[in-house]
Amino acid sequence: MLKAAKIVVLPGDGIGPEVAAAAVRVLKAVTGSSGLQLELAEGWIGGSALDRCGEPLDPKSLDLCREADAIFLGAVGGPQWEHLPGPKRPEAGLLRLRKELGVFANLRPFRSRPSLYARTPYRDEVLAGVDTILVRELTGGIYFGAKGSDGEKAFDECVYTRTEIERITRVAGQLARARGKKLCSIDKANVMETSRLWRKTVTELMASEFPDVAVQHILVDAAAMYLAQKPARFDVILTENMFGDILSDQASTLAGSLGLLPSASLSAEGPGLYEPVHGSAPDIAGTGRANPVGAILSMALLLRHSLKAEVLAQQLEAAVERVLADGPWTAEIAPHAFASTHEVTEAILGALKV
Ligand code: IPM
Ligand code: MG
Repeated sequence: MLKAAKIVVLPGDGIGPEVAAAAVRVLKAVTGSSGLQLELAEGWIGGSALDRCGEPLDPKSLDLCREADAIFLGAVGGPQWEHLPGPKRPEAGLLRLRKELGVFANLRPFRSRPSLYARTPYRDEVLAGVDTILVRELTGGIYFGAKGSDGEKAFDECVYTRTEIERITRVAGQLARARGKKLCSIDKANVMETSRLWRKTVTELMASEFPDVAVQHILVDAAAMYLAQKPARFDVILTENMFGDILSDQASTLAGSLGLLPSASLSAEGPGLYEPVHGSAPDIAGTGRANPVGAILSMALLLRHSLKAEVLAQQLEAAVERVLADGPWTAEIAPHAFASTHEVTEAILGALKV
């Protein structure tokens, strides 16, 4: 465990500041008597940065992030910035931050919980035993290729290099080795050249560096179907940027709510970036209805991966599980008897003391 940690909090837009505040409270509580010194700083990204400095990523905040041990981000985006051109949109700030920090490995764990089975569109037998980690390549592919539009014709280029595929495969291979020794790589190798390079590279690297891990390749369209039909077959999923974005929202339906999913974005050696998978939800911003769990579980990942505080991460996860088992739950999970962001956060703080 680190003795002291500099953490930059980028609350962002919409419900971002609400869930970030909840997650910071919980982080302070869980580290309270552990001897870990927290140094917290705040920065600006997304619409909140645009309003302050005209850029979707405040340059001073980026400098702060580079010097931090870890970065926590709420969410970015909102209707008031929707009309802006691509490079000025709030999302461009997030993509730039990911690229600048080199956080190529995005871990998105998801699981089903019996207490929430009824909140999903699936039958109990489909949900039993779902406990998966999706590894999404985060700094390459179609998100970062050349783009253009003349109003009549538009394009987005998708590029992957062997090196980019190898390094994300290593991350997924290590996770698979520590879990069920099963890796499922998802691509579109029947259509895309990048996917054919992806499949070849994953096959070769896994055979030479992780011969103990069973590897399976599935086309993304079939994977979307299996995720709904037989999700428990997946243990570690490895996929490229765009497919990972799409499949992680789909996967959240197995958990019961997008508001429950955390993520960690890791680089080779710099600080990690931690953010809930959900967006800024402008429709409920300011109503106290945001689910803080995705943000709080992202703090657990921050403790684990950046602060090397595994015991604290597990304590926090156990507290969240206790609350998810019995409630209180936020409105998207329990529409008829729901608790506020504040009440759910209090419940998690209470469960931490047990
Ligand atoms: C996510 C989000 C982002 C992405 C958006 C906000 C740019 O959907 O983290 O999944 O597409 O990566
Ligand atoms: Mg997404």
